[in-house]
Amino acid sequence: MQVDAIQRTYRRWAPVYDLAFGRITEGGRILAARHVNSQGGSVLEVGIGTGLALSFYSPKVQITGIDVSAEMLSAAELRAKKLGLRNVAGLHKMDARAIDLPDASFDHVAAMHIMSVVPEPERVLEEMARLCRPGGSVLIANHFAGRAEGWSFAEKLAAPMANLLGWHADFAIDRVLGHPGLKLEESQQVRPFGMMTFLRFRRVE
Ligand SMILES: C[S@@+](CC[C@H](N)C(=O)[O-])C[C@H]1O[C@@H](n2cnc3c(N)ncnc32)[C@H](O)[C@@H]1O
Repeated sequence: MQVDAIQRTYRRWAPVYDLAFGRITEGGRILAARHVNSQGGSVLEVGIGTGLALSFYSPKVQITGIDVSAEMLSAAELRAKKLGLRNVAGLHKMDARAIDLPDASFDHVAAMHIMSVVPEPERVLEEMARLCRPGGSVLIANHFAGRAEGWSFAEKLAAPMANLLGWHADFAIDRVLGHPGLKLEESQQVRPFGMMTFLRFRRVE
């Protein structure tokens, strides 16, 4: 999907996204926040959406989010306000393929359920690696083709979600594994039914 189509899709989904997809996709967000909280520091969420992970972070973690959808970002802003969060450093309308922030600005860079939506995931991965400080972590939660435990059932469950959210249901994990500056340190299947995969990389020099 091109960015204008993504913006149209998420303009429609923003009011009901949490209800429709919040619980089913929460496993990856929980694992990412748990890792960030255990290390502390700052996190950039790429494609933060409605900010469903915001409440999972420790108040000591400084959070920045970017997204191309103004409506999804507004929902994230509202959530931060309702929760009275004081650790949200900024929520910016930016394209994940060209993020207007300096190199090595964050201790952690996370992308939950966005890599199979964006038109050029390799460019997004490059940006994530650029923005993460050496020794920091890059975290990805996504559905990847053929990875689920109860494969056929989980794939059947993922397929309609993929269509609704503009995901590429056939998105291969190899597309996020080849970056020379990112060393894979953890990979695990996530509920429900191992439908999602959580990946944790270390940013190497
Ligand atoms: C499936 S939602 C996931 C939202 C959130 N990360 C979550 O886990 O609930 C995908 C998000 O990626 C955003 N997105 C898609 N393409 C993008 C791009 N090129 N740059 C920034 N955000 C993008 C969409 O606007 C949407 O908010």
